[in-house]
Amino acid sequence: MPLLTTPALRPGALARHPQPDLDAGDLRLRPWRPEDRPAVLTAYADPAIRRWHCRAMTDDEARDWIASWPVRWRRETGAGWAVTDGAGVLGQISLRALDLPEAQAEVSYWVLPAARGRHVAARALTALTAFGFDRLGLHRVWLRHSTANPASCRVAERAGLTAEGTQRGAARHTDGWHDMHLHARLRADT
Ligand SMILES: CC(C)(COP(=O)(O)OP(=O)(O)OC[C@H]1O[C@@H](n2cnc3c(N)ncnc32)[C@H](O)[C@@H]1OP(=O)(O)O)[C@@H](O)C(=O)NCCC(=O)NCCS
Repeated sequence: MPLLTTPALRPGALARHPQPDLDAGDLRLRPWRPEDRPAVLTAYADPAIRRWHCRAMTDDEARDWIASWPVRWRRETGAGWAVTDGAGVLGQISLRALDLPEAQAEVSYWVLPAARGRHVAARALTALTAFGFDRLGLHRVWLRHSTANPASCRVAERAGLTAEGTQRGAARHTDGWHDMHLHARLRADT
């Protein structure tokens, strides 16, 4: 059956360029490096990151996780950045569920416990959505967080991802099913 819509973005939207660094004021988003492995291990040792991302990580898995990002960029399935300042890695932000024909992507982020309380995630998210809209040509950037995670709700709101509603029992966590808030920002909102 022929599709009656044309793809909003064509293959190559990411892969024809190297993954860039992104400026976020005094923060810099840059591609992951092998030497970032201790920061990734620290992140996944944190109870809050384990709780909301539902993952643990060994040293080998941290190495593989870092090595996966250039592959995902080339395959145009995702894109991950280390959020840094002069002192080192503060957190991560990434595009997932990247859908070029529909010009949409999901965002994920965490901030290391020692770097929290400075709106690092919202500042990184603001820079990433600007990149997604202005340079990749995305139409919609969205995220979901558990209704039991108010800090993530504040991050989304502060970065202009409007709440669109609650998806009941939409994601399984280690303690069972959670209701999930959906947030999104459209390029037309900017
Ligand atoms: C969510 C997270 C990325 C935010 O980190 P951050 O950028 O340092 O955020 P801040 O500590 O500056 O707080 C951001 C906002 O949330 C609020 N907040 C922080 N902790 C909160 C809590 N436990 N309850 C309610 N609000 C909270 C802050 O007051 C601030 O609100 P404001 O924008 O009105 O000033 C970080 O807490 C984290 O990594 N958590 C674990 C992983 C996670 O939840 N990832 C997202 C999954 S969807």
